Amino acid sequence: MPRRGALPVGTLLVLLQLALVPSPLAGCLLDPCLEVTPNTTFRCTGLNISGVPDGVPNTTLNLDLSFSNLKSLGSNYFASVPELELLDLSRCHLHTIEDDSFMDLHRLSTLILTANSLQHLGKRAFYGLTSLKKLVLVETNRTSLSELPIGHLHTLQELNLGHNSITSLKLPGYFANMTSLRLLSFISNKITSISRGDLDALREGNRLNLTLVLSLNNIKSIEPGAFAGIPLAELALRSAFENFMMQTCLRGLAGLQVSRLILGEFHDKETLQDFERGILSALCQVQMDEFVLMCSSGVEDDTENLFNCTGNISTVRLVDLGLSEIPEVPVWPKVKQLECKKCDFEAVPAEKLSLFKELRVLRITQNSGLTSFEQEFEGLSNLEVVDLSENRLTFSKCCSPKFQNCPKLKHLNLSFNSEIRLTGDFTNVKNLLYLDLQHTTLVGPGSYPVFLSLQRLIYLDISHTKTEVKSQCTFCGLNSLRVLKMAGNSFGDNKLANNFKNLSHLHILDISSCKLEHVDQSTFDALSELKELNISNNKLLTFSPAVYQPLQALRVLDFSRNQLTVLLGSAREILPDSLVLLDISQNLFDCSCVYLDFLKWVRENQELLQNQELMLCHTPSYVANVSLPSFDLSSCHISTTKVASSVVVLFCVVVFLLLIYKYYFQLYYSLVLLSGCKHSAERGDTYDAFVIHSSKDQEWVTKELVEPLEGGAPPFQLCLYYRDFLPGVPIVTNIIQEGFLSSRNVIAVISTDFLESKWCSFEFDIAQSWQLVEGKTGIIMIVLEDVDKALLRQRLGLSRYLRRNTYLEWKDKEINKHIFWRQLTGVLLKGKNWNHEEVKLM
Ligand SMILES: *[C@@H]1O[C@H](CO)[C@@H](O)[C@H](O)[C@H]1NC(C)=O
Ligand SMILES: *[C@@H]1O[C@H](CO)[C@@H](O)[C@H](O)[C@H]1NC(C)=O
Ligand SMILES: *[C@@H]1O[C@H](CO)[C@@H](O)[C@H](O)[C@H]1NC(C)=O
Ligand SMILES: *[C@@H]1O[C@H](CO)[C@@H](O)[C@H](O)[C@H]1NC(C)=O
Ligand SMILES: *[C@@H]1O[C@H](CO)[C@@H](O)[C@H](O)[C@H]1NC(C)=O
Ligand SMILES: *[C@@H]1O[C@H](CO)[C@@H](O)[C@H](O)[C@H]1NC(C)=O
Ligand SMILES: *[C@@H]1O[C@H](CO)[C@@H](O)[C@H](O)[C@H]1NC(C)=O
Ligand SMILES: *[C@@H]1O[C@H](CO)[C@@H](O)[C@H](O)[C@H]1NC(C)=O
Ligand SMILES: *[C@@H]1O[C@H](CO)[C@@H](O)[C@H](O)[C@H]1NC(C)=O
Ligand SMILES: *[C@@H]1O[C@H](CO)[C@@H](O)[C@H](O)[C@H]1NC(C)=O
Ligand SMILES: *[C@@H]1O[C@H](CO)[C@@H](O)[C@H](O)[C@H]1NC(C)=O
Ligand SMILES: *[C@@H]1O[C@H](CO)[C@@H](O)[C@H](O)[C@H]1NC(C)=O
Repeated sequence: MPRRGALPVGTLLVLLQLALVPSPLAGCLLDPCLEVTPNTTFRCTGLNISGVPDGVPNTTLNLDLSFSNLKSLGSNYFASVPELELLDLSRCHLHTIEDDSFMDLHRLSTLILTANSLQHLGKRAFYGLTSLKKLVLVETNRTSLSELPIGHLHTLQELNLGHNSITSLKLPGYFANMTSLRLLSFISNKITSISRGDLDALREGNRLNLTLVLSLNNIKSIEPGAFAGIPLAELALRSAFENFMMQTCLRGLAGLQVSRLILGEFHDKETLQDFERGILSALCQVQMDEFVLMCSSGVEDDTENLFNCTGNISTVRLVDLGLSEIPEVPVWPKVKQLECKKCDFEAVPAEKLSLFKELRVLRITQNSGLTSFEQEFEGLSNLEVVDLSENRLTFSKCCSPKFQNCPKLKHLNLSFNSEIRLTGDFTNVKNLLYLDLQHTTLVGPGSYPVFLSLQRLIYLDISHTKTEVKSQCTFCGLNSLRVLKMAGNSFGDNKLANNFKNLSHLHILDISSCKLEHVDQSTFDALSELKELNISNNKLLTFSPAVYQPLQALRVLDFSRNQLTVLLGSAREILPDSLVLLDISQNLFDCSCVYLDFLKWVRENQELLQNQELMLCHTPSYVANVSLPSFDLSSCHISTTKVASSVVVLFCVVVFLLLIYKYYFQLYYSLVLLSGCKHSAERGDTYDAFVIHSSKDQEWVTKELVEPLEGGAPPFQLCLYYRDFLPGVPIVTNIIQEGFLSSRNVIAVISTDFLESKWCSFEFDIAQSWQLVEGKTGIIMIVLEDVDKALLRQRLGLSRYLRRNTYLEWKDKEINKHIFWRQLTGVLLKGKNWNHEEVKLM
């Protein structure tokens, strides 16, 4: 049984092939690397390997080998991936990096060696890294900088030595050559003292923007002058000092020039300390622009002196302090920007803050206990920005009385508060450009035109403010407005009715989530400059072309999450050419084939349409949840061809039936004819001729034809329908069986009546076709007088010229009759079978 044996053998061969030959499939299944971006980014983590995995091509730019068990790197370890730009070797159990390990990586810009306890680092370990910008040596068991062989990495911009055991900040001389260095981090090391000369390497050269991070160390002493003449962009000293040593240490900062100094603690550290009195006065010797103090619980005791040395500081940020009042303000403070974030204020300290005459920007945010705003700002002639967002403020008389003589105020942020009552009085702040009141319950807007005097305002955000727009003049006066955000509110009767009539400079309008059910025709008439309209998440059923027609500058239209069933052709036509983003997702689309043109349009405009994965059919139910862009358009095409072909078939059937109805007799005749063909040979020639004639000519037939022929010598036997047809047999059967099949000849008596009678024509047609089929019977045409010759020619056609046929004309004259009879009997005699009696008679 060869067939049964063949199958297992074949299978076995295939299995053997799979097992032994390294087929591409097998390679694919075993590939340990994830190709994040084709040919360039590979992630091969957690492998127990040595060397670069085989699957990584030489085009790779980014290679992540973290969590692999590499143990040690030998020379030219990465020769197979010379294009690398980023190499991540975090937690690779590396203890040894031999000389020239990275020799081939001339393009490498980032090298991450986090969490490898490096014990043997060759002197030439980092040779070849001529483009290195970022070196991360976090958690690598480093104890000093001097043994770190990085002196030749002149291109370095970031060096992160965090979470090591470095005890001294003595920077080796080679730092003088790292002129690109921007970030030097010693976060969480074991530095205990900083001496003069430690940072000398930074003194040389023309570096300006270096950020030095010394947070989370245990500094006990800073020798005065250690930082003198060192220009730094930022110095971070959070949780950097041992308890009670802060003040002394800060004194050591004398002479430091820094753009930003960050002091304070980290929340999660236990080193929180009580600030000694006047601790910050030490900072008077530091030249800085910005002072940041974070998360220092002890600062409460020192509040009165907090600003003592802020004389020349332009920016003060106080973050997460337990500060309940503004400390004493020095004379002529130069602070231009003041921020108090997560402090403990209960009321807006406007009076005291008004002493900062230079103040430009004021931010008091995220104070969870800040509820009251009773005091007034007074005479802050430079004040431009006031941000009181994310507090719990509840107040009325907004906003003019709160800002006396603050003529430059342009930016007011009162968002995310509790409740604000707007009076409509903005006279003191009529130069406002930005007003943000979002997510704060508002009393006033919607009922009367509160914004009337804000003629210069360009940005207004009143979204989610429980505003109900009842007055058509709610936005009156906002003649310069560019941006109006009022999502999450409502409109009277849930409809837009000419609410934006004078906002002709509006560029962005957000009226999403406003429960809208209807948009009046003239609503958008003034908005010819509008670029973005967000009307999503409403209950709109239609996108009426007339309403949106005026928006000819529109670039972004968000009509998602409404109840639209289709975007009709007329609506699609008015969409301006400038439109680059259209979102109609999450509507209730009707995917019937009636809207085939819409479905096609969706398919063709995928670049324009956003969130396509959320454009789903809603009806009809058999396509519910089918994605619109992937809707099978051909399903509609097929049914149209179906419809077309069934129409054609139906038409054919109808035509066929009509033909049958019309030619019923002919068909019937043909059937009988065919059966007749079989029998014709068996039938004798009972008659000499079958006479077809019009019933109106019966008298002529009887008198002029039957009597002379049947009574003459020799006698001829004629078949006459009125005499010889069998009763009870269908007339057509009679015509054929008794007439044609039993006669040798056909005599057609052609008169005007004959030509007009359908029956006669029919019989004549049958006679003609019969003649063709049988090939023997001749037709004798007897044309009576007074027949229209033209009609005659048309009806008889060619038949009269056929040789087998006889064409006789009947004239009622003796001489003509004589010729007529001679011709007729001559024809009838041809092929006549004489029986005995007839012969005797002759
Ligand atoms: C990846 O590399 C292969 C072979 O070098 C090449 O055929 C293919 O086009 C590349 N793919 C991309 C996305 O560059
Ligand atoms: C890693 O591979 C080595 C042999 O190459 C083997 O001795 C070791 O057990 C493997 N380790 C793990 C975790 O699989
Ligand atoms: C990468 O490898 C291909 C062959 O696999 C070789 O033709 C090409 O030169 C190599 N490119 C580099 C930069 O080495
Ligand atoms: C750190 O390095 C020292 C030698 O410099 C070594 O004794 C110690 O075990 C290393 N620590 C770790 C965690 O490997
Ligand atoms: C700085 O670089 C120059 C030229 O590369 C070199 O001659 C000099 O020794 C380097 N200085 C230090 C302190 O490494
Ligand atoms: C320092 O940084 C600031 C912003 O980070 C930048 O504008 C300035 O140009 C930098 N200065 C130098 C000398 O690189
Ligand atoms: C801070 O300044 C005020 C006057 O502005 C002065 O009375 C006070 O002594 C100063 N505090 C310290 C610690 O210098
Ligand atoms: C403020 O700067 C001026 C010169 O710009 C200087 O004379 C004065 O000592 C500085 N004051 C403080 C407190 O740093
Ligand atoms: C107002 O403050 C909120 C919260 O801090 C912020 O999200 C919003 O962008 C601010 N508004 C403006 C106009 O800056
Ligand atoms: C409409 O705005 C124009 C300026 O854009 C202004 O002149 C006109 O007074 C405004 N009309 C109303 C009724 O506010
Ligand atoms: C329209 O507003 C909704 C929220 O109401 C937001 O999710 C959506 O991103 C906005 N659309 C655009 C285009 O910004
Ligand atoms: C369509 O999807 C929604 C949400 O996923 C689901 O509730 C609903 O039953 C789905 N309808 C059909 C017909 O699958």
